[in-house]
Amino acid sequence: MVSEQPLVEARNLTKTYPPRGSTAEFHAVDGIDFALERGESFGLLGPNGAGKSTTMRMIAATSPISGGSLRVLGMDPMTQGPQIRARLGVVTQDDHLDNELTVRENLHIYGRYFGLPRAVIRERATRLLDFAQLQEKAGDQVETLSGGMRRRLTIARSLINEPDILLLDEPTTGLDPQARHILWDRLFQLKQEGVTLILTTHYMDEAEQLCDRLIVVDHGRIVAQGSPRELIDRYATFQYIQLVMLPMYLFATTFYPLSVYPEAVRPVIQALPLYHSIELVREPALGRLGWDLLIPVAYLVAFGSVAMYVATRRMTRAMLR
Ligand SMILES: Nc1ncnc2c1ncn2[C@@H]1O[C@H](COP(=O)(O)OP(=O)(O)O)[C@@H](O)[C@H]1O
Ligand SMILES: [Mg+2]
Repeated sequence: MVSEQPLVEARNLTKTYPPRGSTAEFHAVDGIDFALERGESFGLLGPNGAGKSTTMRMIAATSPISGGSLRVLGMDPMTQGPQIRARLGVVTQDDHLDNELTVRENLHIYGRYFGLPRAVIRERATRLLDFAQLQEKAGDQVETLSGGMRRRLTIARSLINEPDILLLDEPTTGLDPQARHILWDRLFQLKQEGVTLILTTHYMDEAEQLCDRLIVVDHGRIVAQGSPRELIDRYATFQYIQLVMLPMYLFATTFYPLSVYPEAVRPVIQALPLYHSIELVREPALGRLGWDLLIPVAYLVAFGSVAMYVATRRMTRAMLR
């Protein structure tokens, strides 16, 4: 059996921006290699300026490559841009939604860009509004939507041409925790349906939720790669828990001894109704000490204030007597 060729294949891919003023030529992407199979969910994890968006634009055939090679769906982005773009779904960092139009109209206009017949767009738009949980907003102007809803609409819009690959550039940056979780849920559903995803993110927890495999990029180079689990095992030195409310935090600290075994504590924390997020980070020793200290300090503050209150009341009463 001949194995299927990768959906995207980059070899020594580079992007160089020309010198500007006194700044020298700049290597935004500096020789990266990766290959992506159908149905995979692939992540680019890295800090600001790592070259993630630049890589995405090259894959989306909206920015020419400077060196190396890149094949997307078996095609060359330099010469077959329109054919590639027709088969991709793209969610860029800025959404470019039309604020004056309604939610449904935005989907229709986008469908028309792809030259889809109106009846097809109508049917798909209804299905996608359902998927994005925006049925009730269908007739509302886009400017009335929350950040999370806008992002869901952008994803719905990117699916109107039933793309072979969905590219998502920082899909949850700037969203509140709840909106992030709703979005993860939607993206996870796409992944379950076998949609091939490429996404960029700053967050390890996001990569862990959504990616089968990822590359960690910094200064245009790959600094690590593997499955999220492998990377966490290799690089995460401790686990800290971020929770929305102090009572929740104190409740979670009850499980603190379990955090020696992250596998054991994770389902417990995730089951908490106000679970916010768990992040696995690589931290210097002092950072770790800081967080570890926070737990006894939180206990001391909580129980200390109760004890102080009781003691003060007793003293006041004794003095008044
Ligand atoms: N059009 C451009 N001209 C010059 N430099 C650019 C351009 N676009 C991006 N860069 C630079 O390339 C680097 C990588 O940018 P980008 O791909 O947007 O990073 P990321 O998405 O990982 O935050 C940054 O240092 C950025 O300033
Ligand atoms: Mg970016």
